[in-house]
Amino acid sequence: MNLKNVLNVAIETAEAAGELLRAGVREQKAIIHKSTAIDLVTQYDEAAEALILERLRTHFPEHNFVAEESGVSTYSATGRRSQYTWYIDPLDGTNNFAHGFPIFCVSLALYEGERPLVGVVYDPLRGECFSAVSGQGAYLSTQEGTTRLHVSQTGTLLGSLLATGFPYDRHESELDNIAQLIAFVKRVQGIRRPGSAALDLAYVAAGRLDGYWEYKLNSWDVAAGILFVREAGGMVTGTDGRVPQLSGKINLVASNGLIQEEMLATLAQVGVNEYGS
Ligand code: IPD
Ligand code: CA
Ligand code: CA
Repeated sequence: MNLKNVLNVAIETAEAAGELLRAGVREQKAIIHKSTAIDLVTQYDEAAEALILERLRTHFPEHNFVAEESGVSTYSATGRRSQYTWYIDPLDGTNNFAHGFPIFCVSLALYEGERPLVGVVYDPLRGECFSAVSGQGAYLSTQEGTTRLHVSQTGTLLGSLLATGFPYDRHESELDNIAQLIAFVKRVQGIRRPGSAALDLAYVAAGRLDGYWEYKLNSWDVAAGILFVREAGGMVTGTDGRVPQLSGKINLVASNGLIQEEMLATLAQVGVNEYGS
């Protein structure tokens, strides 16, 4: 497979879907509630996903597609099972989008089994396109040009700016990330909750954040971002310190590598969670 061609298709697709979101953010949204009262979908999530699936299926009819709004499919458009799977989040940051809060993106990634090959995250309001091909580095492209991404050099939690997020079942679940947040607040320079996991990971890769953790993520939230952080010289593990798998719910810690141990130790001190990790 020519990964350069795959990357170009993924960039064009993410940018087209992103334009649809950019045009829609000021419009009236039809809001539907999904798993919980705070887990939303709008007509723009669905329109962006339809556009993405249509384009990617045309170019890669043999590939599998795991797309947030239309469900998980392990079969390609031709009905065969492929080792190549696209993970698609048509709008990461739906809550922000629904409120007109200007942080959201499109996230696309192609994997071969558990191995990331290509990732693209497009932020349409800033015109920032993050991308990576496995083994070839991670990049940020804007109208001004393209720069290679490198994680930050911050060596301590005390000097770090972190990001996190809170799961959609937090009103009912004990694993709500509150105790973990309190533990970090006492140890770091700053914490942000931007509201888009894909951008949080892209920002770790870009050195804008030193680290990020979150529980109960989905494959489409993190598939591209994991590749960015690794390609920019950082580290990504589960909250248990192991290599993260994309199946099921994902508990993730990503950083510049230098503060990974301190982040994992902080989470471990909070205690064993319901996942035993
Ligand atoms: C959500 C965002 C948010 C994260 C949630 C995700 P969505 O994705 O990435 O930052 O905290 O866990 O589900 O629902 O906006 O695509
Ligand atoms: Ca998402
Ligand atoms: Ca989404």
